[in-house]
Amino acid sequence: MSHGTILKRESAPCFDAGSKYCPCELALLGQCVACSQLRGKNVCACGWSGVCVSLQFAFNGSRPAPGRVPSTVSILEQRVMDDTPDDVRVLILTLDVPQDVATWSVFPGSFVMLRPQGRSERWNVPLCVTRAQDSSLEVMMEVLGPKTIALDTAASSGSNLILTGPFWSGIQGIENLRKFGGGRVLAVAKGIGQATLLQAAEYVAHRGGFLRAMIGPGPLGSVFSAGLLTSLGASVEVMPKAKDHNLRRIAGELSAGGYDLLLSSGSDTQHQNLKSLLGEMPEPPAFAWSSNLTMTCAEGICGSCLVQGFRGCKAHIPENALWNK
Ligand SMILES: Cc1cc2nc3c(=O)[nH]c(=O)nc-3n(C[C@H](O)[C@H](O)[C@H](O)COP(=O)(O)OP(=O)(O)OC[C@H]3O[C@@H](n4cnc5c(N)ncnc54)[C@H](O)[C@@H]3O)c2cc1C
Ligand code: FES
Repeated sequence: MSHGTILKRESAPCFDAGSKYCPCELALLGQCVACSQLRGKNVCACGWSGVCVSLQFAFNGSRPAPGRVPSTVSILEQRVMDDTPDDVRVLILTLDVPQDVATWSVFPGSFVMLRPQGRSERWNVPLCVTRAQDSSLEVMMEVLGPKTIALDTAASSGSNLILTGPFWSGIQGIENLRKFGGGRVLAVAKGIGQATLLQAAEYVAHRGGFLRAMIGPGPLGSVFSAGLLTSLGASVEVMPKAKDHNLRRIAGELSAGGYDLLLSSGSDTQHQNLKSLLGEMPEPPAFAWSSNLTMTCAEGICGSCLVQGFRGCKAHIPENALWNK
């Protein structure tokens, strides 16, 4: 996903709106992603039907709500995924976290920022929450580059970690999942993208919806989610490696299955390919996709996640700002 160079000042719904973290420091700086009035405009263009962010800010005495506080967390359990190729390493961590962190991590798209103890925020790794319970949560991490190697090294030495979160922008188009979660959902997930799918599958199951998951090993070489998804009531199809990335098979399923929503969890290339398939359908289902943005703060400050002028860690990015039909 290319980072945007166009500086648009459009309002977009904010993932933190209505939470205890709203209004945040962006409001104080005249940079709220949602509220045009807090950005100095005379008109309201947020389209948000919840509590008015501008009024809330005024009631707070023009002070931002306290942001997320990093916690030092210990590792309850760690293991390495065992069915991956030799050159792929995936660490699965169960963490002992403050109870309210676990409580607020159950929504699809929830993720946390994790870094080694003693390191600064630039070492933060966004990792989606695959399971949250009482005061523990589970994450899975594919070890790739500097940040994940540093985290792997710290975790493997048994060191505590620094956790900030949860954040909720791990799935863009989430409003479609909220709308159609009780309906028919087709999810396509490959590689570590399967991690994002687990909480989404639980959500659909709770809403009484139907989820068909077409999953592939991707570079991980593992379809680790198959059993978990089946136990959540999903209908699971493991896709073989195919020259066309299984696009024909997926197109067939889309046109025959009467789906309300297509959820893509994987690379940006996968998102683009699936969006193109939808563009060929006369009545396509709605679309949602896992976020692959680079993130450092996830609080709308650092700008790492800027895309087409939207701060993707906070803002619901409009579909048409990213994907061609
Ligand atoms: C909301 C969110 C949730 C995420 N959840 C998970 C998760 O549950 N498990 C997990 O293993 N990873 C997850 N990621 C990706 C993970 O954060 C990155 O892989 C990590 O930050 C890379 O940092 P690095 O310094 O180790 O590697 P880098 O040097 O930054 O990257 C190494 C390689 O990985 C690729 N890469 C980097 N970031 C991504 C990305 N976001 N998606 C795909 N490829 C990438 C790069 O192109 C490069 O080839 C998530 C990312 C986001 C934004
Ligand atoms: S990650 Fe820092 S602004 Fe979004």
